[in-house]
Amino acid sequence: MDKFVRNFIIASIIYLGISSILGIAMLHQPSLLSLKFVHSHLNMLGWVSMMIYGVGYHILPKFAGKMIKSPKLGELQFWTANVSLIGMLLFYTMNVLDPTPSSALLTTLFGVVQFFSIGLFFYNMLATLLPASPPPQR
Ligand code: HEM
Ligand code: HEM
Repeated sequence: MDKFVRNFIIASIIYLGISSILGIAMLHQPSLLSLKFVHSHLNMLGWVSMMIYGVGYHILPKFAGKMIKSPKLGELQFWTANVSLIGMLLFYTMNVLDPTPSSALLTTLFGVVQFFSIGLFFYNMLATLLPASPPPQR
């Protein structure tokens, strides 16, 4: 298993733990529902997407009898996806607690980096799966 694959899976499980604690806190204290976006994206971009990236990078090329196009881009995606998710949710939270133009702007900028990380998966996976396979050797 590539290191970035393992890291995606470990990170996704950590996000599930954190988002569930926030979910319980929101149930207990309805004023925390202002952080619903943080809970939903810890889950959807953290737990769900990162688990899919990890398992997908590991399994999908094998199903197609191929090697991943670029493990280096996979590694870059791991770092950009994680730094931007944490940055986006941190500045979103700061902007809920104390709204300022700079925290709103930084939330958006980290969101754009998250979008870039999604683009890395889009490119790497399609560039792996789309080219025709060589004919089997006899
Ligand atoms: C212990 C586990 C969890 C608890 C206690 C919990 C709790 C909550 C609560 C209180 C809300 C706000 C509901 C409202 O708007 O009134 C919420 C929203 C949400 N949760 Fe969870 N959650 C948990 C796990 C998960 C998981 C594992 C996922 C995804 C795989 C998830 C996805 C979402 C999403 C997408 C929303 C936003 C839904 C919407 O806008 O209507 N949650 N959750
Ligand atoms: C660049 C990545 C993404 C950005 C910047 C983003 C941003 C947003 C924003 C601004 C909202 C509205 C929140 C509100 O009403 O307060 C939202 C809602 C939502 N997004 Fe995303 N999103 C992204 C990716 C995703 C992905 C990949 C999924 C699913 C796999 C997802 C699932 C949801 C869900 C379920 C909601 C409704 C729940 C909620 O309001 O929190 N998002 N998203």
